[in-house]
Amino acid sequence: MRAKLIDGKAIAEALREEVKQKVAERVKKGLPAPGLATVLVGENPASQVYVRMKHKACQEANIISTGNVLPANASQAEVEDLVHKLNADANIHGILVQLPLPAGLDEERVLNTISLQKDVDGFHPINIGRLAQKGREPLFIPATPAGVMYLLEDSGVELSGANAVVLGRSNIVGMPVALLLVKANATVTICHSRTKEIPALIREADVLVAAVGIPEFVRGDWVKPGAVVIDVGVNRIEDETRKSGYRLVGDVAFDEVAEVAGAITPVPGGVGPMTIAMLLHNTLRAARLADGNGMANAA
Ligand code: GUN
Repeated sequence: MRAKLIDGKAIAEALREEVKQKVAERVKKGLPAPGLATVLVGENPASQVYVRMKHKACQEANIISTGNVLPANASQAEVEDLVHKLNADANIHGILVQLPLPAGLDEERVLNTISLQKDVDGFHPINIGRLAQKGREPLFIPATPAGVMYLLEDSGVELSGANAVVLGRSNIVGMPVALLLVKANATVTICHSRTKEIPALIREADVLVAAVGIPEFVRGDWVKPGAVVIDVGVNRIEDETRKSGYRLVGDVAFDEVAEVAGAITPVPGGVGPMTIAMLLHNTLRAARLADGNGMANAA
């Protein structure tokens, strides 16, 4: 393997430790510990795992987290009423509605209901809109895209003027990552299911962010020598040698690409841990914004 390994697990652990210390400092000063409320609608097994991991991470950082679960057949009004209730609760600084919502619920309307100051996922239309505009900054940046940018910055990658290719245009990862890369002055190409000649476009990339959800899609001979490759994919593939019968792979054929790239994130242990660390970071930020509100109210 030629590429430097970008150790997301270690970088995320350091960030989580930093958040934990800042939480402790707040509490010592008599300020409230940050509070996160999650909303899980339905029984999507992957979402259940993610939400559980988020609560565990909060606990370790001494962030108070409360879980709210609604049945898969919850109505639009029930979900929105819950969000309104959480908006009004001063002990809750951040609200996270786990996506995807069950079919039949209007995701955009739910996200639009979350108070802007509590939108720790950064998916409120106003936060996303600000991400897309020059000279404007969202209050919160979505956790996975923020984690991708943190890894790039931590690895000392020069983004200004770099050619960046983002594979995938999802609301949760591809599109916000592309917007953040533009803000960092990269020249960005977004590839998706209708894009022609994807390998040729990737060969021009100094930075590649893969978020398409196709196991080992990116091959070694598609990658420019020395490129920095961030693999957001988490895909299960059959593996009879494992007790579970499967293993996790990214959207990048790791062994092949690691021979060509300059730096690469592993799966697991790359972007995944950063998502959780960034959520904690955003929740701490939400608590600080609420401190500001408290002072403004007192004045
Ligand atoms: N589903 C997949 N990733 C995410 C995320 O970062 N936040 C939320 N709320 N839902 C998700």
